[in-house]
Amino acid sequence: MFGRNAQGHATLGGTPISTLLDAAKCGTPAYLYDLDGVRAAARSLAEGLGEGPSLVAFATKANSAAPVLRVLFAEGCGADVVSGAELALALRAGLSADKIVFSGVAKQDDEIDRALHAGGTGIYAIQAESVEEIARVAVRASAQGRKARVSLRVNPGIAIDTHAHVATGHDEAKFGIARADLADAFAAVDRASSVTLVGVSSHIGSTQTTTAHYEAAARVLFDIARAREAARGPLEFVDAGGGFGIDYGNGCAASPADFGRALRAAQKEAGASHLRLVVEPGRALVGPYGVLVATVIQTKVSSSSGRRWLMIDAGMNDLIRPALYQARHRIEPLHDDGAPSAAFRVVGPICESSDDFGSYELPADPAPHKVVIRDSGAYGFTMASNYNGRPLPAEVFVSGGRVAEVFPRRDHDVWIASRFGAAK
Ligand code: LLP
Repeated sequence: MFGRNAQGHATLGGTPISTLLDAAKCGTPAYLYDLDGVRAAARSLAEGLGEGPSLVAFATKANSAAPVLRVLFAEGCGADVVSGAELALALRAGLSADKIVFSGVAKQDDEIDRALHAGGTGIYAIQAESVEEIARVAVRASAQGRKARVSLRVNPGIAIDTHAHVATGHDEAKFGIARADLADAFAAVDRASSVTLVGVSSHIGSTQTTTAHYEAAARVLFDIARAREAARGPLEFVDAGGGFGIDYGNGCAASPADFGRALRAAQKEAGASHLRLVVEPGRALVGPYGVLVATVIQTKVSSSSGRRWLMIDAGMNDLIRPALYQARHRIEPLHDDGAPSAAFRVVGPICESSDDFGSYELPADPAPHKVVIRDSGAYGFTMASNYNGRPLPAEVFVSGGRVAEVFPRRDHDVWIASRFGAAK
């Protein structure tokens, strides 16, 4: 967890970040992750889900680093994957195939095949997002003499109050099977002898700060599941998706455990206690436990407007959330030496106006040498790019307050070679 000690040093897992950076010898920009925080988050969610069968399928798109995955898998978590590559990664990190669900609106044939064969018997569930996809999965399975385990990802028509780019459960989203198409979806499943329907799922979108919409979506899912069971026999699970918010600085009323408890309560109310509960959090298990550290390159003051910029060596290619979703991450000095503060526009080196992390009150005289961008453990590195020829940032994994592993910053030669068609 991020903190600050009595001397004003920003800490991660109780150790000054500057000490961790020195030990890692990796320079900046660098992501640092507190593996103990990740583990504690997984435990508290498991507690919230309580007794009764459940599976926490971590959305690997949020953070796909093997040391993070290994911690979560050791806690009993599974994985929600959205590509053949993420599927292969989860298996390579030691996860058994029967703890993997595969979401995504346009799975390719080779990805479906991989899911059918993973671990010998196939994954826990391929989450079909359209009637058309059910037919495609059925064809792939029957061609290979397999029985596909499929769940229907339902679009419950619930709009959440979040940035438009991360809302997925409303009527116009490309995700999931609209309720009006559910009868067709069930018919498609029933027609296909190579498909077994094992569950119903949804994911209504990210950064939910209360459990209200999540519960509403869960009620819809339980209703659908019970009706289907009454007509055609038992299902195995209901998957209410992820989307648990975190505190980016403006608070977050609901913890991961609260989402778990809310889902259990909705299940009880629906009289569906025989079903396994699946949840797919990404952000809430990793976001608060990662920081991005950047070095200040220089300040700039405009004499006409009086505006001050703080130019740092991390850009939108390293952390795109502010540019893409107008997201605000707290930015603080690595060492707060009590210098008088001023408002700075914190910007990166990329040649784009949107390479702008926002306005922050920071020490001005002198300006900090390094800053820490908080709550960057989710959708940080996984969305990073090589734009402007910039190498991907370093990653440092912290456990017990010490550096456990370092993934160095990629060499820019790797990028140059790729522009000549070579892997390296
Ligand atoms: N399940 C499915 C099917 C999803 O599509 C997602 C996220 C999750 C689970 C996990 O959602 P989470 O618990 O992390 O909110 N890049 C954006 C977030 C996009 C999320 C896409 N799907 C961001 O940085 O805020």
